[in-house]
Amino acid sequence: MANETNVVEYTIENKIAWVKFNRPEKRNCMSPTLNRRMMEILDELEYNDEVGVFVLTGEGTAFSAGMDLKEYFVETEKDGLAGTRKAQRESYGWWKRLRDFNKPTIAMVNGWCFGGAYGPLFACDLAFASDDAQFGLSEINWGILPGGGATKIAVELLSFRNAMYHAMMGENVSGKKAAEWGLVNESVEASKLKERVTEVCNVLIQKNPVALKATKDAVRKVSEMTYANAEEYLVKAQEAANFFDNTGRKEGIKQFIFEKTYKPGLGAYNKDIQR
Ligand code: ACO
Repeated sequence: MANETNVVEYTIENKIAWVKFNRPEKRNCMSPTLNRRMMEILDELEYNDEVGVFVLTGEGTAFSAGMDLKEYFVETEKDGLAGTRKAQRESYGWWKRLRDFNKPTIAMVNGWCFGGAYGPLFACDLAFASDDAQFGLSEINWGILPGGGATKIAVELLSFRNAMYHAMMGENVSGKKAAEWGLVNESVEASKLKERVTEVCNVLIQKNPVALKATKDAVRKVSEMTYANAEEYLVKAQEAANFFDNTGRKEGIKQFIFEKTYKPGLGAYNKDIQR
């Protein structure tokens, strides 16, 4: 049994939480132990004032090789349906928690990314990959359909033809191709990956955090709504955001219109000015 505490590791530097799958010898595949530890870490970081952005990456050559076929499937099935359902609750549980996370989240895909790893990949708001990362729905190669949300994720992010090809063929695509397909935002040379992600984090850290949470929720939710419902949802969502922070947007207007210290078309207002 793996050590309960070190299968995921994190550091916090300059408001960025760098969270790592840390089973490099198992290509960071997700075991029940890892899934439980990740949920604890989400608890530790979500409302920690030292954290402005959450970055998920992997130690070694993998982002994550998907579910641990031994510990997640074979060993939990010994407890029958109860074991399977418990393992599913634990993995799907932290992916949902990550989708709803209170801070911006970024997947930094440094290597192998298979099957179940599409859950956390999609849960993150943004995703950046190294050019040579490898993405695959390998489920078909070992005889199952892409479950745990993976098929839905392919359909959400890819064209119909690419989703079908990706799911049926079990061939990998590079980080570069994943970026062309829209599976990730960008791919960059491996040596530049952390630098690029840090740059993005530093932009996000300057933005109003209440507005960021409202925005990320809105982008996910409106995709399932009619235009009229989305319009109404967005009005209500902004009003709800005002409940948590009703001064930020006024400050933003003041600094542009009256003080002329910045232009919203070119960057964010200074949210650190307290009056
Ligand atoms: N589940 C369980 N063990 C795994 C997994 C996994 N998903 N991925 C890697 N490992 C283990 C290997 O069994 C091996 O263990 P061992 O050292 O005890 O023999 C160790 O990790 C290293 O793996 P290698 O295969 O030797 O590493 P290599 O770098 O040559 O290959 C690769 C990497 C391509 C990622 C390969 O390990 C692989 O194909 N893994 C499975 C990928 C996959 O299909 N995942 C499931 C997706 S579907 C789902 O998530 C529901």
